[in-house]
Amino acid sequence: MSLPKINPTKTEAWKALEKHFQETKMLQMQDIFEKDANRANQFKITWQDFYIDYSKNRITNETLSLLLKLAEEVKLKEAIRQQFSGEKINETEDRAVLHTALRDFANMKPEVKATLQKMQIFSNKIINGSHKGFTGKAITDVVNIGIGGSHLGPEMVAEALQFYRNHLKIHFIANIDGDNVAETLSILNPETTLFIVVSKSFTTQETIVNASVVKDWFLKNASEIDIEKHFVAVSANVEGAKEFGISEENIFPMQDWVGGRFSLWSSVGLSICCAIGFNNFEAMLKGAFEMDNHFKNEEFGKNIPVILALLSIWYNNFYKAESEAVVAYSQYLHKLVPYLQQAVMESNGKSVDRNGEKIDYQTGTIVWGNVGSNSQHAYFQLLHQGTKLISTDFIGFSEPLHGNVENHNILMANFFAQTEALWEGTHNKVVENPFKSFEGSKPTNTILIKKLTPKNLGSLIALYEHKLFAQGIIWNIFSYDQWGVELGKTVAKGTLTAIENRNFSGAKNRSTVNLLEIFLKK
Ligand code: F6P
Repeated sequence: MSLPKINPTKTEAWKALEKHFQETKMLQMQDIFEKDANRANQFKITWQDFYIDYSKNRITNETLSLLLKLAEEVKLKEAIRQQFSGEKINETEDRAVLHTALRDFANMKPEVKATLQKMQIFSNKIINGSHKGFTGKAITDVVNIGIGGSHLGPEMVAEALQFYRNHLKIHFIANIDGDNVAETLSILNPETTLFIVVSKSFTTQETIVNASVVKDWFLKNASEIDIEKHFVAVSANVEGAKEFGISEENIFPMQDWVGGRFSLWSSVGLSICCAIGFNNFEAMLKGAFEMDNHFKNEEFGKNIPVILALLSIWYNNFYKAESEAVVAYSQYLHKLVPYLQQAVMESNGKSVDRNGEKIDYQTGTIVWGNVGSNSQHAYFQLLHQGTKLISTDFIGFSEPLHGNVENHNILMANFFAQTEALWEGTHNKVVENPFKSFEGSKPTNTILIKKLTPKNLGSLIALYEHKLFAQGIIWNIFSYDQWGVELGKTVAKGTLTAIENRNFSGAKNRSTVNLLEIFLKK
């Protein structure tokens, strides 16, 4: 059965929300808090190691109940059930969407179990040094060659869980930028390096070209027969990987029902396994599994991904907010935002609805941000005093990992202070200097987590996966395809041919021709 195809703007709830927005848009959050002392206790969710405070939002009880009604009217519950049960909800690609099956410990598919086992055995050998390189030395460096979902997830997690890392050094080659490839290779020893070529399709230009450059570099020092000790592949295209020269036993399979940007839980996570060991990788999967169950079973009023999705819709579609920020108060999470940008924007950057009709309302949120407290000294000025409304997720941890309590208290004091300042501004204070006046009433969600563990990280990532899915359902779009990236790829092929042949007759645009001419003159 296909997903419900309901235009959200035609629902009763949407119409009521539009009216409600007109009635409440002037409300100041400072005043709402004053009137309702219980607000902070009401607009919060406690779940496992997570405490979500969403009271500092421009909402009332009525806003929330109308948003929940919207979720009901677009049949979100039914869509969640369809996703988890493996129905082909990625209709435009005729595929199921089952990244949740990769961490379904209650009912694990045999092929998932088998792949996890293969990853466990292989990563153990790399970590304990029993896998030897072509000169008999243990592996010291692991390089993930892949782009998009075959890069951003593994890199984000490897960085986020640095505390749990072993002696192996992990590198990422993603960009087709040859200078970057050269810089990475310059610090590697072919005798002790393992290359993991990660590409679901095994046709992605950047990955295949980079892997070939790396293979040529390797073969300057070693012979063809040594490839099997130093190159493995992760792919759904086993034939493609074999053609590249990787032996079948060195290929870690991927299923076609795992989307690239949701694939870090699959064999795409092999570099993560090497970096933190299989047990930690598994703990991360378990954390995601817990969040899956929460999303699937919890009533919407207490459902973290659903509530965050609805709040985001409220700002995006009613306040017409242009973007939202995510700021994690942990340096470990410095790659979270680039990861989320692919997850959210590749999924929900759509302007045709599930009926194939052009959409006349806003979809895909623009996600941006960085880590705190650094961000406070960069773009926070705009959050506090700019003209745009930007709802911000603040993510922080109660416990530091290295026990530096003094630093952590300062870090977290800033974390709490910012949501407070964004909420209050200089409300009800006499500020004579207009440049020093702050409106306040800036929306924030606080996601306070006990500790940055593999399990909690798994839950956090799954939270955002489910949030974006819920939003896609409400907007009546297909979140799991990405046709929008294809045109650029096709045009680039033509441009490369033009550059290589020094013939621009195919380029229609004079601006592009001028640029190509200048490029070729160097
Ligand atoms: O071009 C976008 C994209 O298809 C992403 O969706 C995907 O994560 C990335 O390219 C890499 O694809 P692959 O894993 O097939 O190389």
